[in-house]
Amino acid sequence: MGTGWYARLQAWLMATLGAHHSRLVSERKRALLGGLEGRVLEIGPGGGVNFEFYAATVTEWIGVEPNPYAHDRLRAVAAEHRVPARLLDGGAESIALPDESVDAVVSTLVLCSVGDQRAALAEVHRVLRPGGRFVFVEHVAAPRGTLLRRVQRLVRAPWRVAGGGCEPDRETWHAVEQAGFRRVTLDHFRVGLPVVSPHVAGVAER
Ligand SMILES: C[S@@+](CC[C@H](N)C(=O)[O-])C[C@H]1O[C@@H](n2cnc3c(N)ncnc32)[C@H](O)[C@@H]1O
Repeated sequence: MGTGWYARLQAWLMATLGAHHSRLVSERKRALLGGLEGRVLEIGPGGGVNFEFYAATVTEWIGVEPNPYAHDRLRAVAAEHRVPARLLDGGAESIALPDESVDAVVSTLVLCSVGDQRAALAEVHRVLRPGGRFVFVEHVAAPRGTLLRRVQRLVRAPWRVAGGGCEPDRETWHAVEQAGFRRVTLDHFRVGLPVVSPHVAGVAER
């Protein structure tokens, strides 16, 4: 991500578009995030749109956010929600936390953008305690052979540039299923957005 006008623009987009997207999936977020407890790690928290869904049972929040221009806002939103928070540098592919050290990991619209999905999921699995949960809401590839899938493929390159590395046609649910979790529950659904309407939400238990 680095620094400069592009990272600043992405930080602003995350806060504004992220809030809009969050409203579209708020029921699922309430169900998935509302029951989390203890030490929660969020990868790619962006504009901090998920804090409103956490209950007081979240006693510590840790964010891995590679865009430095998002950090001040994240600290402010965490303080507003009275959650003790700390931010880690770097990306989800290399998380500076010990093995089995968090109770839950959250990812919303991040696995579309990480440089190495497999490495990021291996790190999520590593830092989760046994019995801990990885909860996610992600936009994903449309079914193979559909017109939408062809459109997603066609726009992938410019989309990646405009969207901070985001790719619209990742089969993220397969990557989660292959990441070594004990049990994975998936909910495929659509939201009213062009190109990125297919979504998957779910829980992966360590
Ligand atoms: C589309 S935004 C989503 C932000 C927020 N989670 C939301 O739901 O609005 C994608 C986020 O992933 C972050 N990101 C990109 N690559 C990442 C990586 N390798 N590790 C962790 N976060 C990453 C971006 O900086 C950004 O905050």
